[in-house]
Amino acid sequence: MRMAVRLALLAGLLSLPANAQLGTAAPVVDISIADSPGPVIDRHIYGQFSEHLGRGIYEGIWVGENSKIPNINGYRKDVVQALKAIHVPVVRWPGGCFADNYDWRDGIGPRDKRPVRINVNWGDVTENNAFGTHEYFNFMELLGADAYLSVNTGSMTPMDAERWVEYVTSDQNATLANERRKNGRDKPWNLKFIGIGNETWGCGGNMRPAVAAANNARYSGFLHTPAAMATIKVASGASGNLDKWHDYKAFTEEMMKNSGPTFGGSLQALSYHYYAMPPNLGPKGPATGFDERGWATQLGYALDLERQIDDVTKIMDKYDPAKKVALFVDEWGAWYQQEPGSHPGFLYQQNTIRDAEVAALTLNIFHRHTDRVKLAAIAQMVNVLQAMILTDKEKMVLTPTYYVFDLYQPFMDASPYKVKVTNASYAYGDTKLPLIDVSAARGKDGKLYLALVNTDPHRTVTVRTGLTGSATGRILAGAAMDAHNSFDRPNAVHPVPFSGVSQNGKLAFQMPPMAVAVVAVN
Ligand code: AHR
Repeated sequence: MRMAVRLALLAGLLSLPANAQLGTAAPVVDISIADSPGPVIDRHIYGQFSEHLGRGIYEGIWVGENSKIPNINGYRKDVVQALKAIHVPVVRWPGGCFADNYDWRDGIGPRDKRPVRINVNWGDVTENNAFGTHEYFNFMELLGADAYLSVNTGSMTPMDAERWVEYVTSDQNATLANERRKNGRDKPWNLKFIGIGNETWGCGGNMRPAVAAANNARYSGFLHTPAAMATIKVASGASGNLDKWHDYKAFTEEMMKNSGPTFGGSLQALSYHYYAMPPNLGPKGPATGFDERGWATQLGYALDLERQIDDVTKIMDKYDPAKKVALFVDEWGAWYQQEPGSHPGFLYQQNTIRDAEVAALTLNIFHRHTDRVKLAAIAQMVNVLQAMILTDKEKMVLTPTYYVFDLYQPFMDASPYKVKVTNASYAYGDTKLPLIDVSAARGKDGKLYLALVNTDPHRTVTVRTGLTGSATGRILAGAAMDAHNSFDRPNAVHPVPFSGVSQNGKLAFQMPPMAVAVVAVN
């Protein structure tokens, strides 16, 4: 069936929904879907980042075998079940900034003999190293996720990194593999991704771009895994947050220019970080209790990533027209003021329907850039920044962001179509956003899936597709701009069934304000 749909002009006045702005007609948006698909949406774009930071690992994931909190060999049972339900494809660990202060030897051997260190990046709290290499890799196997190890290239030598990788992946009768066996693991673990440092321009070593490129080439040349593992090495790349001090274009250019085979390591993937927050570390807003300006600017920050990816892609295309080098956006998400009363340095924040929109808009951006973006990791999985899950001792809540990852599962490994959307916007103050953002893809099950985001906090929007047939799925909407799940009201925001309607024989949707929907077209 041909899917292209003629763009239609704005339809006549529709009845205003109760929550529409007075004097504003309920808008109508038409979408048209391209005929042929682009490169597959790599399931790894649904990846997670988990650092030794605040309560991300300890309490959030790891409680130990003797905890009263129900656990599977020390991992929280409720958290494991929730993560398995969204089929987390990869978890990046142990940092972040923590990675470049981490000595992997601290986290192996009997737990009661492991050293206690100070976590100098995150609150100067003690780190007892109870969660180390074995706990991480066994956790990956429990989740069925790929491992993404971020090795220390800031404060340790290439030999330290090389030995960690050998400890994890060697099957030989050699000292490191035998030490791993003595510590309880016979077979090697699978190591799919190795991150060569983290934010080398900042907490990973304050390197200038040329030094960072040389650092990558040097370390990557020393890291070997068995060929059958087909491990991908990831060069630490730029950040889009600090343009006053750090030019992400110049940094990307230098990494692309200097990391080819002549420099010791053929670049396979380059990372990129971007947090939806005010530029240049400007004052962050609150996670809840914000006004409409806070709503609009935050979504604007999230959407700015598309411009950055376009810039980075242009540079990568110049050095790698065959598109062999992947772009890994391995830290992204919303960053707000920490929750009042929470530990300074723990980056604990609430998560609202606004964050659900940040997540959906960002995933839609990744769907539009599948030629380059092959992996992404939201920061961070549990209890830190834009988390999937929040815990308070034995209690757990799933956040609106979690539900977006749940709704979007059919897009994993799906084939995306370009979508044209008629020019309609939601505007507040100086911020102007697309009113409706759309992703379309052919799922692995052969069905056509649509993801729809209404950025307007007031107006219901009619979205006309021009497709025939019906559509069913689920929708996540908020009763207020900061609607969220708390430990007292854990189900305030959750997905409910959602269907298309027929308008003149064509499939349409009535998208309520502040909503994210994913449907299958039948
Ligand atoms: O995610 C929190 C921190 O943000 C990470 O440790 C660092 O890589 C980034 O600056």
